[in-house]
Amino acid sequence: MQDGAGGNEARGGTHRIAHLSDLHFGAEIPEVVEALVDTLNRDPPDLIAISGDLTMRARTAEFEAARAFMGRLRAPILAVPGNHDIVGYLMAERFLDPFARWRRFVGPETEPVFQDGRIGVVGLNTARRAGFYLDWSRGRVGQGRLARCLARLEALPPGLVRIVVAHHPFLPPRAAPESRLVGGAARALEGFARQGVRLVLSGHLHVGDVAEPAAMVPDDAAKGQLTVVLSATSTSRRLRGEPNAYNEIRIGPDRRVEILARSWDGSSWAIARPQRTDAAPAEILAPSG
Ligand SMILES: [Fe+2]
Ligand SMILES: [Fe+2]
Repeated sequence: MQDGAGGNEARGGTHRIAHLSDLHFGAEIPEVVEALVDTLNRDPPDLIAISGDLTMRARTAEFEAARAFMGRLRAPILAVPGNHDIVGYLMAERFLDPFARWRRFVGPETEPVFQDGRIGVVGLNTARRAGFYLDWSRGRVGQGRLARCLARLEALPPGLVRIVVAHHPFLPPRAAPESRLVGGAARALEGFARQGVRLVLSGHLHVGDVAEPAAMVPDDAAKGQLTVVLSATSTSRRLRGEPNAYNEIRIGPDRRVEILARSWDGSSWAIARPQRTDAAPAEILAPSG
């Protein structure tokens, strides 16, 4: 468990999380990476959450570059693996110890937990070394991992805003409604809702959006509160029709949540817009329960 320093006082008590995803070192754009380090360090958020695919092929040099990037950032970091962070070309390593390089270069946990006075963040590893399907890249929420994640959420102090970080998408972006979701998505979302999770931060599709699982969660107090947040690729050339971006999530003292997408405009990270462009400001600032 990591504890944050709680550096939000100077911002009137508004907590900020920078949600990065799909860094894909090995296919990174150096000037985008440099400007991102500068932008994040100029006014460090309370947490930088990275939802997987730190590398292209889980090569040593790629992990070293990812580690160097994270080492330059001045905010606490919580990162989970993506499907690209498992070696695909050394089959023995893939099956025997698929996260050996993650532990060596990123950290001891593939499912880290972070909490401070405002937020409780639980990492969930959805990257799988194999499965009963041919598409290993899809990812899955296994029963054991889901149970452990839910237990960690339940153990958090009651007043915290609960957040899950996982690589694969639990809901599709509006731009790609046919996207394959992580295996076990519906069951996981139901569990998250029951634990009062406010935000699920994901990537993998390289498309940024927000979505609410209105039809998938139990009809109780949590309904309408759970928001799935997707991020585009923050630093790589693997663009899917939109620029490099990351999400800037602001959580006020009253637990209201605002989600902005901060995009690379070709020379800076200056552009920030509400993720839910079809919603009125009052809806973007949805109250949290
Ligand atoms: Fe990716
Ligand atoms: Fe991925």
